[in-house]
Amino acid sequence: MKGDRILEIRHLSKTFGTNLVLKDIDFSVSSQDVTCIIGASGSGKSTLLRCLNLLETPTTGEIMYHGTDIADRKVNAPQYRSRVGMVFQSFNLFNNMTVLENCMIGQIRVLKKNKGAAQKNAMYYLEKVGMAPYINAKPRQLSGGQKQRVAIARALAMEPEVLLFDEPTSALDPQMVGEVLEVMRKLAEEGLTMIIVTHEMAFARDVSSHVVFMAGGVIVEEGPPKSIFGSPRERQTQEFLSRFMHG
Ligand SMILES: Nc1ncnc2c1ncn2[C@@H]1O[C@H](COP(=O)(O)OP(=O)(O)O)[C@@H](O)[C@H]1O
Ligand SMILES: [Mg+2]
Repeated sequence: MKGDRILEIRHLSKTFGTNLVLKDIDFSVSSQDVTCIIGASGSGKSTLLRCLNLLETPTTGEIMYHGTDIADRKVNAPQYRSRVGMVFQSFNLFNNMTVLENCMIGQIRVLKKNKGAAQKNAMYYLEKVGMAPYINAKPRQLSGGQKQRVAIARALAMEPEVLLFDEPTSALDPQMVGEVLEVMRKLAEEGLTMIIVTHEMAFARDVSSHVVFMAGGVIVEEGPPKSIFGSPRERQTQEFLSRFMHG
C-alpha cells in the first residue's frame, strides 16, 4: 500500500581496498516513492544502487527489505532481484536473443513461468513501452532509446516491487532521452516505486517525490524536490546545482 516501508538502509558503508566510497548512508523507501539520487560523478551513486541490488556487498550496515537484511548470505539473489529490479545505463540486453526472448528469459528461469505465460506478460510490457512492433528484432538492430525501452520492459515483466535505474539516459544520443524519460514518467504516474540515479534535473524536479543529493560517499541533503531545487540548505548542494544549471 502507498506509504508502506519497503527498503530501509541503515549505517551503510562500502570500501574498495582503502577507498571508503559510501559512508554511513541512512535512507528509506516507501511504496510509490520516486526517489531521485543526484550528485557528481564518483560520489558513490552507482555503488549505492549496486548494494541495493546485491551486485555489491556492503562492508558494514544493513539493507532491510520488508524487515529482512538482504546482505545476509542466505538471501537468494536472483529471487530478490525479481522483487527489486535494475535498469542499467548500458542496457545489458542479451545480444544473441530477440527483444521478446530478452523479456521472457528471466520469467522462465527465475519465476518458473511457462513459455506461454512468459510471452503473454512480455508482450504486455513491450506494448507499454511502445516496443511491441520490434519483438523479433535483435538488440543490434535497435537505437539506444529503443534498447533502453526493451530493458525497462524486461525489468517490468518480472513485476518487481521496486525498480532501480542507474543513469538510464546517460548513454543515449540527446534525441532519444525524451522517449525513455516519457516511459519512466508514465510508470511514476502509475505508482511504481522507483529509485533513479540521474543527471536529468528537470525530470527529477517534476517526477520525483524525494531527492537525495550525494557527494563524497555521503548524503549531503535530501528532501522533496521543491526544497532541494528551490531552496537547498547546504552550500555543496547549492554549488552542485548552480554548476549544473549554468553549465
Ligand atoms: N568495483 C570497484 N572497485 C574499486 N573502486 C570502485 C569500484 N566501483 C566504484 N569504485 C569507486 O567508488 C567511487 C564511487 O563510484 P561510483 O559509485 O561509481 O560513483 P558514481 O556512480 O556516483 O559516479 C569512485 O571513486 C570509484 O572509483
Ligand atoms: Mg554511476
